[in-house]
Amino acid sequence: MNIGEGIDNQSFRILIVDDNQSVRDMLYNLLTQEDYECISATSVKEAEKVLNQNEIDLVISDIVMPGSEGGLQLAEKIRQSYDSEVILMTGYVDEFSFDKIVGMGVSDFIPKPISSTSELLMRIKQVLVKRMSYKDRDRAEERLQKNIDSMKQLLTGVVNTLSKTVDVRDPYTAGHQRRVAKLATLIAKELGMSQKEVMTVEMSGLMHDLGKLAIPQAILSKPHKLSELEFGLIKTHSRVGYDLLKNISFPWPIAEIVLQHHEKLDGSGYPEGITGEEMLYEAKILCVADVVEAMSSHRPYRPALGVDTALEEISDKKGQLFDSRIVDACIRVFEKRNYSIEDLESNGDLSYYMSQLDDFQLNTEQTPTEELLSFGVC
Ligand SMILES: [Fe+2]
Repeated sequence: MNIGEGIDNQSFRILIVDDNQSVRDMLYNLLTQEDYECISATSVKEAEKVLNQNEIDLVISDIVMPGSEGGLQLAEKIRQSYDSEVILMTGYVDEFSFDKIVGMGVSDFIPKPISSTSELLMRIKQVLVKRMSYKDRDRAEERLQKNIDSMKQLLTGVVNTLSKTVDVRDPYTAGHQRRVAKLATLIAKELGMSQKEVMTVEMSGLMHDLGKLAIPQAILSKPHKLSELEFGLIKTHSRVGYDLLKNISFPWPIAEIVLQHHEKLDGSGYPEGITGEEMLYEAKILCVADVVEAMSSHRPYRPALGVDTALEEISDKKGQLFDSRIVDACIRVFEKRNYSIEDLESNGDLSYYMSQLDDFQLNTEQTPTEELLSFGVC
C-alpha cells in the first residue's frame, strides 16, 4: 500500500508562502490539481493573517523573503501559536543546516528549484499522513477521557444508589451511612489525608452497612434489646457487605474497609477480631465515625444519646478501642462545628473528589461492558 493511500486530499488545507509569484503559482496549481485546498500568501505578515482566520494543516514557506522576517521566523511563530505542520524551502540550501531546521519542529526542508514534482508531492503527503495519525491519537485520547468521565459519574451514581437501598430496607436508621460518610470525610480531611484517601473513606462510609440488606427487617427495627442470636445475625453484615462488594473492581480497598468497620484496636471487634496493626487506616476512621453517629442519633430501642456522650465514649476508649489521632481529629471536627451533628446531613463530596482524580482506572482487564455488568447495571 502506498503512503497516504485512501486519504482524502480535499480534507487538507495548505498555505503557500513565497514572495516569488512563479513559485507560488506553480505550487498552487500542482497542489490544487491533487485536490488539496490551497491559499497563497506573499509574506510572513500575510501568512499570519491567513493563519488567524483559517485552520491550516500545512504551511509551505520560502525561507528567504524580502523584509526582516522569513520562513524561519514564520516557523517559530507557528510553533508557538498555531496548530500546523511546516515545510520550508530555499534556493540557498548550503546556508542552512537540515538538522537545525528540523530541530525547530519543521517537518521537512526542500531545496529549490524543485527538481521532481512527484518527490515533492510524496514528501508533502508524508507530512500530512503523520499529522493525521497525531490527530487520530488526539481524538482517541479525547474519547478515552470522555469514557473515563462517564465511568466516574456511573460509579458515583452506583455508590449513591447502593447506599440508598439500605435506607429503604432500614428506614429507622435512614441516612446513617450518609452521615457516617460525611463525618468520616471530615475526620480524614482534618488528618490531612490526600483527596484520593478522603474519597475512599467517603465511598466506604456510604456503603459500610450494605450487608444489612441480608438482615431481617424485624431485627433491624426491633424496639427492644436484641437477643444474643439476633445480635449474632446483625454481626454478619460486615462480611455480607464485603461479599457484595469484593467483586467490584474498585481501585481502592472499599470491600476490605467495609469488612473491618466494626473491628477494634484491641482485637475485640468483629468479624475477624483483628487488631489495630492489621486494620486499614480508613477502617479505623469509619469505626470512630460509625460509633459517634450511632450514639448521637435515635435508634428504635433507645433515644439519641447526643454528641457529647458519643465523644466522651470515644475519648474514654482512646488508644484501647479507637485510634488516638482519629479520636482527637473527630473531637476537633465537632469543636469547629460547635458540636452540631445537623450539618452531617448535607450532601457528600463524592462526585467532586471523583472528578478531581486524574489517575482513575479500575483494577481490571475487563472491558467497560464487563465492568458495567459487574456493577449489576446492565
Ligand atoms: Fe455497621
